Amino acid sequence: MSHKKQIFNPNPEFAKNAAIPSMDAYWELQNRAIEDYEGFWKGFADEKIDWLTPYDKVLDESNAPFYKWFTNGKLNVSNQCIDRHLADKADKTAILFEGDRGDVEHITYAQLSRRVNKMANLLKNEFGIIKGDRVVLYMPMIPEAAYAMLACARIGAIHSIVFGGFSAEALKDRIEDAKAKIVITADGAYRKGKPYMLKQVVDTALEQGVGSVEGVLVVKRNNEEINWVDGRDHNYNELITAQPDVCPFEEMDSEDPLFLLYTSGSTGKPKGVQHSGAGYILWAQMTMEWVFDVKGEDVFWCTADIGWITGHTYIVYGPLAAGTTTLMFEGVPTYPDAGRAWKMVQDHKVTQFYTAPTAIRVLHKMGEDEPKKYDLSSLKVLGTVGEPIDPPAWMWYYEVVGNSKCAIVDTWWQTETGGHMISPLPGATPIKPGCATFALPGIMAEILDPDGTPKEVGETGLLCITKPWPSMIRTIWGDPERYKKSYFGDAVKEGKAVYFSGDGAVLDEDGYITITGRVDDVINVSGHRMGTAEIEAAVKDDPSVAEVAVVGKPHPIKGESIFVYVVLKEGHINADIKNHINQLLAEEIGNIAKADHVIEVPGLPKTRSGKIMRRILRSIAKGEAITQDISTLEDPSIVEAIISKAREA
Ligand code: PRX
Repeated sequence: MSHKKQIFNPNPEFAKNAAIPSMDAYWELQNRAIEDYEGFWKGFADEKIDWLTPYDKVLDESNAPFYKWFTNGKLNVSNQCIDRHLADKADKTAILFEGDRGDVEHITYAQLSRRVNKMANLLKNEFGIIKGDRVVLYMPMIPEAAYAMLACARIGAIHSIVFGGFSAEALKDRIEDAKAKIVITADGAYRKGKPYMLKQVVDTALEQGVGSVEGVLVVKRNNEEINWVDGRDHNYNELITAQPDVCPFEEMDSEDPLFLLYTSGSTGKPKGVQHSGAGYILWAQMTMEWVFDVKGEDVFWCTADIGWITGHTYIVYGPLAAGTTTLMFEGVPTYPDAGRAWKMVQDHKVTQFYTAPTAIRVLHKMGEDEPKKYDLSSLKVLGTVGEPIDPPAWMWYYEVVGNSKCAIVDTWWQTETGGHMISPLPGATPIKPGCATFALPGIMAEILDPDGTPKEVGETGLLCITKPWPSMIRTIWGDPERYKKSYFGDAVKEGKAVYFSGDGAVLDEDGYITITGRVDDVINVSGHRMGTAEIEAAVKDDPSVAEVAVVGKPHPIKGESIFVYVVLKEGHINADIKNHINQLLAEEIGNIAKADHVIEVPGLPKTRSGKIMRRILRSIAKGEAITQDISTLEDPSIVEAIISKAREA
C-alpha cells in the first residue's frame, strides 16, 4: 500500500481531552460557521479577546476586498499576550530561551511584563516613538526580539521584522518602503558555535542614506566589537535599566495595523503585508488552542525564525495570547549534532514541536535513529509548515519522532493569512501522509477554476478562500491597488472576487485537500518564499547580463532549488558565472537566494511576442523531456542549445 493511501486515526487517549475531540465536533463547528458566519466569529471574539471597548460590527464588507473586522472595538495586543495573564500566571514561564551554546533562561510572565514595559518606555522616551510609527527589527533569535515586538504593540507602533539572513540592500529597501523611524538590532548572536554579526549589515544599509531613520537601538548579545555611530546608535543594555517598569498600553482600534511583514510575490519588489490587531490575535490564539491543542503546563516549540510569519504567530503572539510557554531557540536544530533538537525536547519536556519539512528531511538524513536515543515521551503533537511534505519524511516524523502516537498537523497557511487555514486537528482528524486535510472551522477554502467552478475530485485547481477571515492581510503597505490585484484578481465566485492564495490544490475522494504547490512564479527554497522576478531583477543589475530567467528545480532536501539561465551581453565572457551570480544574489537579497545552478545560454525560449516560456525552462531544469509544442517559438533551435548546456552543467 502506498503511503498516500494510509490513514492514521487520532490517539484516543489524546482525543479525550482535546479542544476539538472528534470529526463530529469539527463539523458541528464548521456547520455553525456556514450557517451563521458572523455569529460564529462573534462567539469566539467575545470569549477570547479582552476588549477595552466592545466592537459594534463583526464584519464590514462595504469596501471589499478591504474588509474590516470587529469595527470600532478597542484592545491592546500586549495586554492580550501579557497583562491579562498576570492574575493567575505571573510565575509561569512565558518564554523559555535556549541559546546556541546551551545557556537557558526561564522568563516568567511577570518578568516578560516588566521587560516589555521598560522597552516600551525606552522607545517612547529615547526615540519619541508614537502610535503609527514604523519600527524595523533586524534581530537574532533572542528574547529581546520578542520584547521589542510586544513593546511596539503596547504603544501602537507598527513593527516590520526583516529576517537576519537578508542582505544590507534588502534591509535598506524594506526600511525605505516602510519609512521606519528606528531600527532595532543586536551586535550579533551565536549560530553553530560562532558569533555572527548583524549590526554591520544595518550600518551598511544606513550608509546608503535612509532618510527616515533617526536612530538605531543595539542589544548586546555576543559582545563582538562593532562600529558605533555617535548620536545615531543607542545602547539598549545601558538605557533599559533607567526606564520605569510601567508603561500603560495604548487603546488600539481593532483595525489599527499591528505589523508589516515583507514577502515575495510573483512580480515586482517584495510587498509589505499589513496585519491588524484584533482579528490577527484572535486567530493566533484560537489556532494555538485548536491545532496545537495547548493547555496547562505544555511547552510549545516552534523552530521558525521570528523574521518569518511562522515566528510571529507561533513563537510570540499565538503562544503568549494562549498563555502557554513558548520555547525560543537561538541556534539550529542540527548543531552541535543531529541530536540537538531531540535533546532539547527531552530537556524541556516539549509537548508540541513545529518545524519545516526541510528541517525534518535534514534531521532524518543526519540520524535515522537519532530520536530513539532520547526520551521524547512528552511529545503530543508534531507540526509541519512552509512547503509540501513528502510521504517518506512524514512517515519518519510520525513513526520515529512521534513514536506512532502523536498527531501530525500539516498546516497550510501563508504570510497573508496570519494563521493556519487548512490543517488536521490532532484529536479529531484521521490523517494521511503529505496531506493538509480540511479547512479549519470558520475557514471557507475551495478549489476552483478561475470562473468559480469547483474542481472535481482529483483535478488540481486554484486554492481559494471564499469568505474573508479575521486574520487576513488587510492591504499591502502603501499599495492598495497591488493588494487587490495580487489576491483578488484571479478567481471570481458568484460575481465576487475571492482570495486566491497562489497555490494549487486537489481534493481526494474523501474530501481531503492536498496542496500541490505554487502555481505562480514564486519558488519555495527550504520553506523560504522567493519571487523569481525578484531574483531576476537582482541578476539583471549586473552590467554583463543581457537576459535572465529563473525557475525552481525540485530538490530532495530543500524542496526546491534556484536554477538561473543567463544570457551574457556581446563580448562578455565569464568563466565562473555561478560564483559571480551568487555573489550578486548574496549582496542584493541574501545568502538564501543563492542558486544551485547557474548556466550561461545563448538565448531564452520565447514566443513570437517575446514572452519567455518558463515551462520549457522548468522542464529542462528537471531533466524532463520537452512535451510542449516548440514550433511556435521565435527560435525553436534554442531549446536544443539550452538542453545541451544544461547537460554539460
Ligand atoms: O506554497 C505555500 C507554502 O508556503 C507558501 C507561503 O509562504 P509564506 O508566506 O512564507 O509562509 C510560510 C509559513 C506559513 C504557501 O503559499 N506552504 C505553506 N504551508 C504549506 C505550504 N505548502 C504545502 N503544505 C503546507 N503545509
